[in-house]
Amino acid sequence: MKNLVLIGFMGSGKSSIGRRVAAHLNRHFVDIDVLIEQREQRRISDIFELEGEPYFRRIEAAVVKDLAARTDGCIIATGGGVVLNPDNLHALRHNGVLIVLWVDADTAHQRTAHKQHLPLLKAPDRRARVNELLAKREALYRAAGTVVDTCDKTLDEVVEEVAAIYRHHHGHGDSHKHG
Ligand code: S3P
Repeated sequence: MKNLVLIGFMGSGKSSIGRRVAAHLNRHFVDIDVLIEQREQRRISDIFELEGEPYFRRIEAAVVKDLAARTDGCIIATGGGVVLNPDNLHALRHNGVLIVLWVDADTAHQRTAHKQHLPLLKAPDRRARVNELLAKREALYRAAGTVVDTCDKTLDEVVEEVAAIYRHHHGHGDSHKHG
């Protein structure tokens, strides 16, 4: 059974959707950002501040590679920048169904407005920063997997849609838990 890998910009709902899909399908949920923080024993914002983005991306790639090699049947939430390194997508695709949760810049900005710990959004004009980052990444997201637009949908609607795509890939509604 392949993993279900959720990809998307900050605020696309990867973690909240992932947690709900995992509960719905009775599967394990794994959040790559959390694994990175556990491995480094510090917050992502501290890693960015103290070591810089290239260091963070190296750790992220190592965690992705390790996770992809040792899991199956899990629901995986990635960090928004996972698409920047083709090796990440290659590793995740090997044993995963990749679903992209799409958000437009307005929605991403609204949904992240209360989040203080996103290092890439620490900017005087946050809205402009979201625009800029999303524009740079849009083609990468759209090419990464099956795209689900989340903008005008409720969490439940997106959960249903994501679960249906995942089930479709396996041709049945198996809800067996893997360890
Ligand atoms: C990042 C997104 C964050 C986190 C880091 C970098 C990005 O994850 O990995 O701050 O480059 O978009 P979320 O998308 O889960 O917030």
